Amino acid sequence: MKIGTPKEIFEGENRVAMTPESAQQLQKLGHDCVIETGAGMAAGFDDAAYKDAGVEVVKTAAALWKAADVVAKVRTPSDAEMKRLREGQTLISFFSPVADEAKMKQAAEKGATVIAMEMIPRISRAQKMDALSSMANIAGYRAVIEAGNNFGRFFTGQITAAGKVPPAKVLVVGAGVAGLAAIGTSTSLGAITYAFDVRPEVAEQVESMGAEFVYLDFEEEQQDGSASGGYASVSSPEFREAQLAKFRELAPDMDIVITTALIPNREAPELWTEDMVKSMKPGSVIVDLAAEKGGNCKLTVADEKIVTDNGVTIIGYTDFPSRMATQSSTLFATNIRHLMTDLTPDKDGVINHNMDDDVIRGATIAHGKEVTFPPPKPKVSAIAAAPKKEKAKELTAEEKAAQELAAFKTQTRNQVTLLAIGGALLLGVGLVAPASFMQHFIVFVLAVFVGFQVIWGVAHSLHTPLMAVTNAISSIIILGALMQLGSSSFIVVLLAALSVFMAGINIFGGFMVTRRMLAMFQKS
Ligand code: NAI
Repeated sequence: MKIGTPKEIFEGENRVAMTPESAQQLQKLGHDCVIETGAGMAAGFDDAAYKDAGVEVVKTAAALWKAADVVAKVRTPSDAEMKRLREGQTLISFFSPVADEAKMKQAAEKGATVIAMEMIPRISRAQKMDALSSMANIAGYRAVIEAGNNFGRFFTGQITAAGKVPPAKVLVVGAGVAGLAAIGTSTSLGAITYAFDVRPEVAEQVESMGAEFVYLDFEEEQQDGSASGGYASVSSPEFREAQLAKFRELAPDMDIVITTALIPNREAPELWTEDMVKSMKPGSVIVDLAAEKGGNCKLTVADEKIVTDNGVTIIGYTDFPSRMATQSSTLFATNIRHLMTDLTPDKDGVINHNMDDDVIRGATIAHGKEVTFPPPKPKVSAIAAAPKKEKAKELTAEEKAAQELAAFKTQTRNQVTLLAIGGALLLGVGLVAPASFMQHFIVFVLAVFVGFQVIWGVAHSLHTPLMAVTNAISSIIILGALMQLGSSSFIVVLLAALSVFMAGINIFGGFMVTRRMLAMFQKS
């Protein structure tokens, strides 16, 4: 089959759906590749690079659409491009079956097949084709860079000869793919980063990336804003109020706010109100990644950057991925290449449009002269919502006291039993062993008991400092063992040598583990 990529005609669109590298991979599947002249220029790939990769370069869009069996492009086709789409041809691009319903029907009537990249199911197997995530990741990163470009200070705090610089405070609203990318970029630049999402299960991801999750003072079961498939649902009015109250409290303190909150098939929720913008410091920056869907900030103007009367910059660009066209084209072309790999199972250049395959079926919106949207529900869901925790029953003061007393009694009983067994054993050994042995044996038993009690009580987070302490203990063991080396008893010398050997393992092993841990943090 011949896979062709035309030049994007949407104004300001710099991306391209095929790169020289992806073309080489497509050829390995048995396909031929063709591109319209200049299609990759804005993304940094010139015609010569495509030619070197074995791609045919044609002079016009008309020639490209005529030559290609499969047309891969970024944006939904324009009306002019729809006219070029023909029977038996396959189109792969972003294509909203809801917003562009008429075009979808038109494609089906023509007998063309349309694979919409938005519709790739969000299941693990399809992650490599998930262009929405690839683009959201870039948008989240670029949002922070854009904010930094409009912010007059450092992200990280610094102590310089000229004075102390406080770190910037960044709030990310919505911790989906774009939000998490923004959090990662912001923390890596050194800003103090806060994040909020209606789905409480993302708190752990937020915290693992070095940001602080903003919790609301709200009943737990009402706080869960998760819908099915890992997406958010519309919040209740009470929840929304609690959320806005929290944002109002944070607004004067935040330097940069990045909003990414979206709910599938709806306008973006309005979360950053006019009064919040007014309460922000001059020089603060808001980047609204939801601008295309109406914006999370009341004052956002889509595709524009505005500065309010109180000096707050609000960025509503909707083309963040296109502003990093080399990166976004590379990722988008790779997503398409993976899709083509699934469509060409035998790597023989022949497309097998298998409608029994969950991913291919899910993304196909027109096929065999029929509209095939919406697809049946996928058998596997995207991300399981966190299991709802059962709320612990409130205990009365008497019940709590009774519970504590019962726990204390059990603990005491266990300890007394252990002491009794230990005492009986000591007595047994004392009856048969010589007095000099008993003196050492009692010290040994006491050391084991105290050591056990001390180490058992140490929290997991303190295990690394504990390792350092055990190294100190090892050196004491070695000293003790060296003092015994002059003993006339062979057994004592043997035990001393064994102690030195074992303590040595602890010390040198500790060094080796530390080296390995440090190597993990070293840049290659
Ligand atoms: P999205 O772009 O639809 O929404 C962005 C974020 O805004 C979401 O985290 C959502 O919970 C949050 N949000 C909505 N209303 C809000 C409000 N009022 N206040 C604060 N936050 C609000 O989400 P995206 O990035 O497309 O991801 C959605 C889900 O899909 C996530 O759970 C993600 O992990 C999952 N996913 C799964 C993939 C896979 O399994 N292949 C691939 C990509 C995403």
